Amino acid sequence: MCGIVGYIGPRDATPIILNGLKRLEYRGYDSAGLAVLTERGVQLRRAVGKLHRLQALVEAQPLSGHVGIGHTRWATHGEPSQRNAHPHVSDRGQVVVVHNGIVENFLALRDELAAEGAHFRSETDSEVIAHLIERFLSRETGLVEAVRQTLQLLEGSNAVVVMSALEPDKIVAARLGNAGGIVVGLGEDEMLVASDLPAILEHTRRVAFLEPRQMVVVQRDAVHLMDLDGNPQPLQPTVVPWDPVAAEKGEYRHFMQKEIHEQVRGLTDTIAGRVDFEGGKIYLDTLNLTPELARRVRKIFITACGTAYHAGLVGKTLLERIARVPVEVMVASEFRYADPLVGPDDVVLAISQSGETADTLAAMEEGRRKGATLWSIVNAIGSQAMRIAQGYISMQVGPEIGVASTKAYTAPLVDLYMLAVLLGDLRGTLPAAERRRLVADLRLVPYLVSQVLEREEEVIAVARQLKDVRSCLYIGRGINMATAYEGALKLKEISYIHAEGYPAGEMKHGPIALLDEETPVIALAPRDPWYEKMVSQVEQAKARGAPVVAVVTEGDTLIPPLADAVLWVPPTPWLLSPVVTVVPLQMLAYHIAAMRGLDVDQPRNLAKSVTVE
Ligand code: M6R
Repeated sequence: MCGIVGYIGPRDATPIILNGLKRLEYRGYDSAGLAVLTERGVQLRRAVGKLHRLQALVEAQPLSGHVGIGHTRWATHGEPSQRNAHPHVSDRGQVVVVHNGIVENFLALRDELAAEGAHFRSETDSEVIAHLIERFLSRETGLVEAVRQTLQLLEGSNAVVVMSALEPDKIVAARLGNAGGIVVGLGEDEMLVASDLPAILEHTRRVAFLEPRQMVVVQRDAVHLMDLDGNPQPLQPTVVPWDPVAAEKGEYRHFMQKEIHEQVRGLTDTIAGRVDFEGGKIYLDTLNLTPELARRVRKIFITACGTAYHAGLVGKTLLERIARVPVEVMVASEFRYADPLVGPDDVVLAISQSGETADTLAAMEEGRRKGATLWSIVNAIGSQAMRIAQGYISMQVGPEIGVASTKAYTAPLVDLYMLAVLLGDLRGTLPAAERRRLVADLRLVPYLVSQVLEREEEVIAVARQLKDVRSCLYIGRGINMATAYEGALKLKEISYIHAEGYPAGEMKHGPIALLDEETPVIALAPRDPWYEKMVSQVEQAKARGAPVVAVVTEGDTLIPPLADAVLWVPPTPWLLSPVVTVVPLQMLAYHIAAMRGLDVDQPRNLAKSVTVE
């Protein structure tokens, strides 16, 4: 969704902001803008479309200064247009604002301000913030107090960053809820403010995250944090371990392709430091899982969205089979309103790459309200889902930039596997010999994924055959049913080809009617306990004339003669097979979308982190 960058310091703010916005492109946007405090006062540049348009505008009409704020906008109120793009300026030009989230009471506020004589130049909800701040701003009040008073009036989940020519020595930023975070980058004699880490990592790795209902006054050499009543709060800077190079495309054509290939390293890092191969033990220290809690857990509710939800479906099989704990998996947008039967002896486990997904955070809040223990599996360091949980597992995969999630799918599968082993051990439901075998199997995972990646040329050949199809069905059973869902999601979100994932056994109850020579079936049929069932599913699809692409284990001799194309995966312990079988499907979706000439990393209508409901 929207992205924010602000800079104050000795350097020229314009290139720093433009560069920061570039690094937030992955979030999805349809217009962009920046405001810089120049010698001639605040100057604004805004453009519809991708950032190169804003860049061209800035080249044609340069602006330079030492304080500035920028924004990439994902339209909610009002079409993508120059006048709706941020920053927004108040009537007398004293206040400049960029904003993420939705001001839920903006209609009432706009009517009130209009009645007082304010002129609105955009259709956005955000513009009311600039007018309100100016309404409160006076020599006595000052910018900080005017922002604070304005924030009291805003309903909804918002992140706001403000500057004013009247007080050129500061930027004021605030976080009102879960819609988008605010992170302050603490540099040497300079400071940055952003919605996300990648915008500032190349300048500093020392950062401080705002909690909801906190605001911050950022000056070149000082940062003052406070709550919305103006009470000072302690600033707690952390040093982010992410390498800024991890947010570069490098030799790859797209971030998604790079991130698919980074899975070997990501999975190695996921396992490193958490597994004692000699003792056959798992250590997940940040989860705060005590033996007492492990024995007390009645049920685990996994809640997540999109790809993370699919990881949760695999997690159910892992936790139930390995630890023998009952698990329910629910899409977070449903969980939050379902009044689920959650109690104090239950765990609500959220999975989220961004850790900022509004529905997932709301589901966590619902779990907390009902007294459950809150856990999360999160990639974005310092994100809300990490901070509000009582325990977390951090995905060790570095920043994921491509909108289509890849490495942040396979890492939580391994995290859930490790969690299942640890829980089974602490609950006494997993015999020691079995535990040692399961732990030993983990060592293989990065290597097995690397084997699949080496077969990219074979995937490209299949992509060529499928790139013009109109519709595809992905089928799988058991632990690889979720792989079918995930493969279909990958294809549809970046190639815009209609794709459905289905439990293979359900085909005969309806979807088989769709099959014909033009509707390929992608069948997940590795050597797992459901293999024999999948053989007959492939036969049924062929009998209806559908072309079949089968994902099968090396050495398989039954399915390849039936299939039109084969994607091979190495023999893998079945509980870990989803980590491996999804990889050819990620590559397939990627290459189909790239062959169709589409914007793989920023597909239409999608944002990387979905911070609105
Ligand atoms: O950041 P999260 O993991 O919470 O995001 C959840 C979904 O929005 C995300 O997985 C989405 O489905 C991806 N575009 C899938 O590739």
